Amino acid sequence: GPAGLGVEINIDYVSVCVVDLAGTGRVRQTEHLDNRGAPAGEVLARAAAIAARTLDSAREQELRPVGVALALPGLVSGGAVRQAPNLGWNEVPAQDLFGDALTALRPGRPVLPVASENEANLAALAELWFGGLGDVRSFLYLTGEIGVGGALVLNGELLRGAHGFAGEIGHVVVDPDGPECRCGSRGCLEQYAGQSALLRAAGVDGPGAGGGSGVLELERRARAGDVRAVAAVAEAGRMLGRVVSGAVNLVDPDAVVLGGIYRGLMPWLSPPADEELTGRVVSGLWSPGSGRLRASSVAGDAARGAAALVVQDVLDDPVAY
Ligand code: BGC
Ligand code: NA
Ligand code: ZN
Repeated sequence: GPAGLGVEINIDYVSVCVVDLAGTGRVRQTEHLDNRGAPAGEVLARAAAIAARTLDSAREQELRPVGVALALPGLVSGGAVRQAPNLGWNEVPAQDLFGDALTALRPGRPVLPVASENEANLAALAELWFGGLGDVRSFLYLTGEIGVGGALVLNGELLRGAHGFAGEIGHVVVDPDGPECRCGSRGCLEQYAGQSALLRAAGVDGPGAGGGSGVLELERRARAGDVRAVAAVAEAGRMLGRVVSGAVNLVDPDAVVLGGIYRGLMPWLSPPADEELTGRVVSGLWSPGSGRLRASSVAGDAARGAAALVVQDVLDDPVAY
């Protein structure tokens, strides 16, 4: 039957997901690649090739994706990436480049419509639609990637802001004299709590840290009680908690959900973050162990959210499909 295809293009991986009309994730796959340094057109063509293969395996399962949504690690509007700091992209017409590449790879097949959205926003929607949030309708979502992504869902709706750029919590300044950020500013949160910063602080960077293995190594060391690893994650948790407390004071969410690399780091990340929040949330509605700070419960979150976005369109207008 009809289905949606989600394609997340991040800095160090491409992840795909096919969701059927019931919202169930049916095909999922992640490929670790280094998308930094390559021209945007090349990265999008690579992702289109992965998408084309995924469309073939979907067909084998009798699924018929009727559209594609791209989840992108930057500021997205009007089908273009206005800025993706860690990819070094500026004003890249991602939707068109990807769509053209995909169409070229599937001669004689129907042209699929392509949509695009910030990857953290889509991960937050996946959490809203498929996660274990219970009664929670207002939450702040943070995802640990090479950068730090954010999204705000208030009363069940994604907050977009005036231009679609709301939620960029990774570029909230922690220290104006801090390290240069890829966005052009200094001392942004992601310079302390993003994957690259975290691995560097933990001493897990260098050769062999690519391909997703760096984060696994960090988890392994933290579990083994490695002092440097535990301290690095705790420091990231404190920075995160500090910035998030500001956001909580601003918008009063029911919960803060942590996704991406934070999911596996919760045992070491969340106590210091919770402590910061408890001390700084002015409403007094935060206390350690209140359960308000939680790990995302949806794996492969952004690609799944993207696929679900396509499915939503089908459900909204079933006649068109
Ligand atoms: C970008 C965000 C993105 C986040 C996580 C940040 O540097 O500005 O748009 O969501 O990284 O990839
Ligand atoms: Na966002
Ligand atoms: Zn920045």
